Amino acid sequence: MAVLLSATGLRRAYGRLAAVDGVNLRIAAGARHALIGPNGAGKTTLLHLLAGTLRPASGSIRFAGRDITRTGPARRARLGIGRSLQTPALFGSLSTLDNVVLAAWRHTGASAWAPARYRQLASRSLDRLESLGLADHARQPAGTLPHGRRRLLDIALALADDPKLLLLDEPTAGLEDADLQPLVAVLSGLPPETAVVFVEHNLVVCTRSSGTTGLARPRSCTPSPVSCVPAPAASASTIET
Ligand SMILES: Nc1ncnc2c1ncn2[C@@H]1O[C@H](COP(=O)(O)OP(=O)(O)OP(=O)(O)O)[C@@H](O)[C@H]1O
Ligand SMILES: [Mg+2]
Repeated sequence: MAVLLSATGLRRAYGRLAAVDGVNLRIAAGARHALIGPNGAGKTTLLHLLAGTLRPASGSIRFAGRDITRTGPARRARLGIGRSLQTPALFGSLSTLDNVVLAAWRHTGASAWAPARYRQLASRSLDRLESLGLADHARQPAGTLPHGRRRLLDIALALADDPKLLLLDEPTAGLEDADLQPLVAVLSGLPPETAVVFVEHNLVVCTRSSGTTGLARPRSCTPSPVSCVPAPAASASTIET
């Protein structure tokens, strides 16, 4: 498959802490790629760099044939990069359906309220909820959904504009075994051309990926203003399976 996203030499520091350092990544269209590593290894930071919510200090990112290193997150979303956060960001008092409609509406770029547009998006969004097994919760306030359903809704939001690349930060975090299966089924059931990069601690879920990138601990600095001690392991390694 053609390369959809490639990142070269990505680096991002918080003060003197290099959270992501020298990361190279190549994601093919339709790939299911796991990011693994210990707490603080820079997984979330790397997703921020790919989504455009953080800029790299150095390195470059190409997506679907164009350089997006300096492209902002809204434009990247319109180009086809969808994402879900480590902690789902939902409008708790709005219905599950309206959360998806709003996400889809944002992608249309339309600002004015239009009932016909709402009906069209609501119908499409209901289909999406149906495919994720959430249709029974469509009218329920999103804030009252159980944790596992919220995770699924978060994925529905990220899918609102049929992204070419879906970035998921720990989609299975905190899920009971009973909720794990529906989520894995949803990820397996995504269109084959949709690439997914996901941060995951659950190795059973990781074994379903087509490639894995392992991030080591970030480079840390001693309190001394002159000496900087790199962590012993390499910053990133990629395992294609
Ligand atoms: N906004 C920030 N300001 C300062 N340091 C930060 C910030 N965000 C992250 N860090 C630090 O950067 C490093 C990488 O953080 P990041 O959240 O990317 O790791 P992670 O691999 O996602 O960790 P986890 O598995 O706990 O979610 C950590 O040492 C973290 O404390
Ligand atoms: Mg994280």
